[in-house]
Amino acid sequence: MDKMTHTGKLLDIVNRYYELQLCYAELKAFRATEIEHDILNNSFIFCDGDTDKLLFRSSWFSEIDGERTFIQEVIQACRKIIWRYSDLWLSHIAYPFKRRMRPQVARSLINITCPESEATILDPFCGSGTTNAEAYLCGLNSVGIDIVPFYTYMSEAKIRFFEQEIIFNPIASENNGHPLLDVIHAACTLLKTKFKYEKRASEIIELQRIYFDQIRAKLRSHGKTEHKFIVGTATDIPFPAGHFDAIVCSPPYGSAIKYEEENPGPEKMMEIPDELKQYQILTKDEESWKNLMTDAFSEMHRVLKKSGRLAIIIGNQKRKGEIVDYVGWAREKLTSMGFKPLYQFTELISSTGTRNILNDEILIFEK
Ligand SMILES: C[S@@+](CC[C@H](N)C(=O)[O-])C[C@H]1O[C@@H](n2cnc3c(N)ncnc32)[C@H](O)[C@@H]1O
Repeated sequence: MDKMTHTGKLLDIVNRYYELQLCYAELKAFRATEIEHDILNNSFIFCDGDTDKLLFRSSWFSEIDGERTFIQEVIQACRKIIWRYSDLWLSHIAYPFKRRMRPQVARSLINITCPESEATILDPFCGSGTTNAEAYLCGLNSVGIDIVPFYTYMSEAKIRFFEQEIIFNPIASENNGHPLLDVIHAACTLLKTKFKYEKRASEIIELQRIYFDQIRAKLRSHGKTEHKFIVGTATDIPFPAGHFDAIVCSPPYGSAIKYEEENPGPEKMMEIPDELKQYQILTKDEESWKNLMTDAFSEMHRVLKKSGRLAIIIGNQKRKGEIVDYVGWAREKLTSMGFKPLYQFTELISSTGTRNILNDEILIFEK
């Protein structure tokens, strides 16, 4: 009998080589075979594969065999409100966190490392919670750890967006204290973005209404998920060995940015607890960066299940005219700890907000 072939049409925002590589790896993770890129028709042709799962979880297709994917519905819904945010959606729009992962990339890394359902993903450097929000939108559980309290607050608030209605009416002085309002407020006031708080809050509320009306039902049919956030350190992950199905993260590297200066929040919430301060991964000194990262890598290895996958984004830096090879160091260190390298893709990054960073590298390993 002839094999059934499928056609996945790429989203209109897909145009870079590494995106096609991620798409290919994602198809493989969902057990597609005979995968071909049909360049002239902007699509992939493949056999086999779990097309139901791909319709729900794909990061790169707008349609599969003529049926709209979940992510295409999300993107279309968001464009009705904020057309210019082509690769940000829903609660990701609340705060423009510098050096965050692109949600689409986080989503794809979740799929490549964890095609299973009913699994739990860890991001031990969760920052603004991109991985966690995408895990939610893939119907998976997640845990996020960050050393800065405001960042875990923000990550949790972005999940609450999916579950609790935001009430905000400046004229009637109505405000139900939804945590995402604090996050939007921080973005608009402390970050001095060009956005006006009231305008941004009402856009996010409008997005939430669309999400509740059009998108939530689809997610609900995949069951309820759990998301936990911890103010802590990646060098001491408070979970037993083998607890996580996959890990997706982008740790601090290079003296790329000073996270707290460039991603501010209310003063009190930016204070790192005293007992954690010594573990904050900064890069003033390469040696201490390497020591803390070694501890974090070994914790990641411990808490990952056998054959579980790790996706990590890290980049090289140019310092005083010399290239500092963080990527090579990380790859060697992880390999020496028993991680087997599977893929490496180069993500071109924009120069905005990033000092002295060359490309980011996406590294994927298996335990
Ligand atoms: C590149 S950012 C992560 C961005 C995130 N992937 C996102 O999409 O928003 C790195 C994060 O690591 C955090 N960090 C620094 N040292 C840490 C440590 N020892 N344990 C956990 N998080 C730490 C920083 O506060 C920062 O939020």
